[in-house]
Order: sequence, then structure tokens, then C-alpha cells
Amino acid sequence: MAPLLLLLLLCSGRRRGCGGVVGRLAAMLTFVVAAVVDKRAAMALMYDDVEVVWGADHSFFYMDDGGGDTLAICLDETHGSGFRSRDAYLYARFDIDIMLVANNSAGTVTTLYLMPEDVPWEIHDEVDLEFLGNVTGEPYTLHTNIFVDGKGQREQQFRLWFDPTADFHTYSIIWNPKHIIMLVDGVPIRDFKNEARRGAAFPTWQKMRAHGSLWNADDWATQGGRVKTDWSAAPFYAYYRGLRATPCAPSPGVAWCGDEPPESPRFDLPPTDAAALRKAREEHLLYDYCADTTRFKDTGLPLECTS
Ligand SMILES: *[C@@H]1O[C@H](CO)[C@@H](O)[C@H](O)[C@H]1NC(C)=O
Ligand SMILES: *[C@@H]1O[C@H](CO)[C@@H](O)[C@H](O)[C@H]1NC(C)=O
Repeated sequence: MAPLLLLLLLCSGRRRGCGGVVGRLAAMLTFVVAAVVDKRAAMALMYDDVEVVWGADHSFFYMDDGGGDTLAICLDETHGSGFRSRDAYLYARFDIDIMLVANNSAGTVTTLYLMPEDVPWEIHDEVDLEFLGNVTGEPYTLHTNIFVDGKGQREQQFRLWFDPTADFHTYSIIWNPKHIIMLVDGVPIRDFKNEARRGAAFPTWQKMRAHGSLWNADDWATQGGRVKTDWSAAPFYAYYRGLRATPCAPSPGVAWCGDEPPESPRFDLPPTDAAALRKAREEHLLYDYCADTTRFKDTGLPLECTS
């Protein structure tokens, strides 16, 4: 009797997990629904372009009928999973399509970020897009940050203007010697300028890879950590597909982007993009560290905020 009970307990415990047949089936079913919703062919094979770096038993690749494929990441009470691009780049544009955890996603964080190989924290750079989940019916927050030489505190937050769980949307990071630009469905939302001339920090020398992950962060993510992950709603799934990495192209005759002369207009934001950026920020910006004078009242606003 006791072993049977134990088995039953284990099975019911597993029901909410990512492993085993049930987890895979759930991911597959959700994915099939998503594939019907959006039939655009993905351009690249995730399987070829990324490697799962942790939680491999919580990541599944699916082929879709567009010939592309999708990486489903599963989060349960034990852990989530994360991947990175196989290649690293010094200046590139990264685009990827993501469909976020649906329904009650409170406590979960789905990410897209750039990061170098393991380096000491003092020289750690990072460009972050973190999608903070919420309870059913309440909106996600897109939390962004930029770390240079181990120092972040450059947060900006946005409200998305669509339901990011109903379909795939394209999230992009353009990184060149003059800007780090974040885009949502091709709309620029954040432009972090290289103000190194004036002594501000900017990542300029080490290659970075694109990373993605789904993990539990219910100590801070949702409504400041007040709303916890509801594990009875687990397993949670986020879907990634079509990673495109386009290396930065310098002007003809220039060896690489880092050699582009400072006066070159190569990396200037086209006027239409500048206008789109202004409009997106007027409409969707929730928080900007550059506007947080209370927070920086003792030190003054960071240099890059005062151009
Ligand atoms: C979200 O909720 C709807 C309505 O209850 C349901 O049809 C759908 O399957 C749920 N999606 C997931 C991923 O659980
Ligand atoms: C979740 O929803 C609440 C209520 O609408 C909102 O205040 C909050 O910013 C949303 N996002 C997060 C991550 O808490």
C-alpha cells in the first residue's frame, strides 16, 4: 500500500511539472494552437542557432509547418531553462520572435538579453529585456536595463500595446558603436546613446551573445513581489523562434564598425525612427531612471541622461 501511495503522490506532484509526457503534451498543444494563430514562416532554425545552457530538461524544440522551429521553455516549481546563441558578436542587430506565458504569469520572468562570456563582474556588460508576468487580465511590464562594467541602474519600463501572449511578436536589439536601440515589432522604444566622449559608459569591446530564459522571480517581479507565482497554474510556457543575428556593417572601405569615423552618419537614427521613438515613449513609457530626480538627488542624474 505504502509504495502505491508514494507513487500516486509522485504522479500528482509531477502533474504540474515540465517533465514527462504530460508536460511535453501541454507544450505541444499550446504550440499547435499558436502555430495556427500565426502561420508566418520563421526564417531560421532555432535548433541550429542556439544552445540550451541550463535546465535542458525544461526546453523543447518543435518543428512547425513553416519549416522553421520553435523553442518552448517550461517553468515549474523546480526550475525553468535558458539558452544562448551559438555565436557571439561585437556589434550586431538581434531579432527574435517571442510568445509570452499566457494567463496567470505572475511571478514569472521571460527574458531576452545580451551578455559576454563569463567575465569578472567589474567588466560585465549586459543589455536586458525582461518581461515581468502578471495575474490573468493584468498587463505585462517590459523592464529594460543596461549594465556596463558591472554597473546597471539604468532601468526603463514599458507597457506593451498588445497582448504578448496571444501571438509571437518581434523583439530586437541594435547594438552599434553609437547606440543601443531596443525595438518592439520594429518600433524603437529605447535609445541608449554612446556618450563616452562625455565620460559615460558604453559597451565597446567584448563580444556578446543573445540569451533567453524563463524563470521564477516572484520575490520582486510582479507588483513589487506582492503577487507570488501560483504553482497550481504551472507548468508555464514561453516560446522563442527565428533568432536573427545581423553583424554590424561599416561604411565601404572601413574595416569594422569600431573603426567608423566619429563624424560618419552611418549609425545615425533615421528621422522617421527618431519620430517613432518619441511617439512610442510618449505612449508606452512607464518608468525612466533619467527622469527619476528623487532617486539621484544626492549624486545627480547619470551622465548619459543629461545630454
Ligand atoms: C488560458 O486560458 C484560456 C481560457 O481559460 C484557455 O483556453 C487557455 O488554454 C489558457 N492558456 C494556457 C497556456 O494555459
Ligand atoms: C500588473 O498589474 C498591475 C495592475 O494593473 C500593475 O500595476 C502592474 O504594473 C502590472 N505589472 C507588474 C509586473 O506588476
